[in-house]
Amino acid sequence: MKLLFIGDVNGEDGVKFLASNIEAIKKQYKVNIVIVNGENAAEGKGITSKIYKDFMKMGVNAITMGNHAFSNKEIDKLLEENANVIVPANFPTYYDKGYLTIKYNNETITVINLLGRVYMNLPLDCPFKTGKKIIDEIKSDYYIIDFHAEATSEKKALGFYLDGINGAILGTHTHVPTCDETILEHGTFYITDVGMTGPLDGVIGANRDLIINRFLDGRPSRLVLQTGRMQLNGVIIDFDLKKITRINIKES
Ligand SMILES: [Fe+2]
Ligand SMILES: [Fe+2]
Repeated sequence: MKLLFIGDVNGEDGVKFLASNIEAIKKQYKVNIVIVNGENAAEGKGITSKIYKDFMKMGVNAITMGNHAFSNKEIDKLLEENANVIVPANFPTYYDKGYLTIKYNNETITVINLLGRVYMNLPLDCPFKTGKKIIDEIKSDYYIIDFHAEATSEKKALGFYLDGINGAILGTHTHVPTCDETILEHGTFYITDVGMTGPLDGVIGANRDLIINRFLDGRPSRLVLQTGRMQLNGVIIDFDLKKITRINIKES
């Protein structure tokens, strides 16, 4: 089985850039399953029903979210309708909406979304214990965990804590890809951050001039997304060949 995971899709331009590249990636790597982090798809914050449909048209099997899960209220309807979207399972009361089992041939793949607590400032349950609980409760052939977290230390620690599951622990949220993709000692695929899919020349997607000004004068300002060149970041996991490959595409 070959799985494509796409990191934080940022804004409508990010969605469009993914749409214009995904077929070629699927064809080149003979991808069977696609998972996308969509927490920034709606103008940088959250997801809408329209964007959800766009992802479905691209053949996406599951969408994960993050700290911006509830930034657009259309998420409520999607969750109510049991759409293929999950939010971090360690948001209190959202445990049941934090994982999703999909099927490929005769095998099951359980996708789990967790949110880090370091530098996150949200009232979250423990991502370590929540992840373990889901894995213990839900029997599945594969587990794919999107660990949406800021601190590299927290992501590394969760990777080692859950190493041994048949699957992958894939970091998202920082929007900056790391080059530490690996297979951990007990066989689990791991990367600290997949990176984002959206504006290439912004500051983690946001308009760079506004961010520079924030650092210069310290005043809060309403952010907009950077326009111009785009990037796509993801990973391909080949479970048969036991290989994890980064996909980093940048417009020139
Ligand atoms: Fe993000
Ligand atoms: Fe995030």
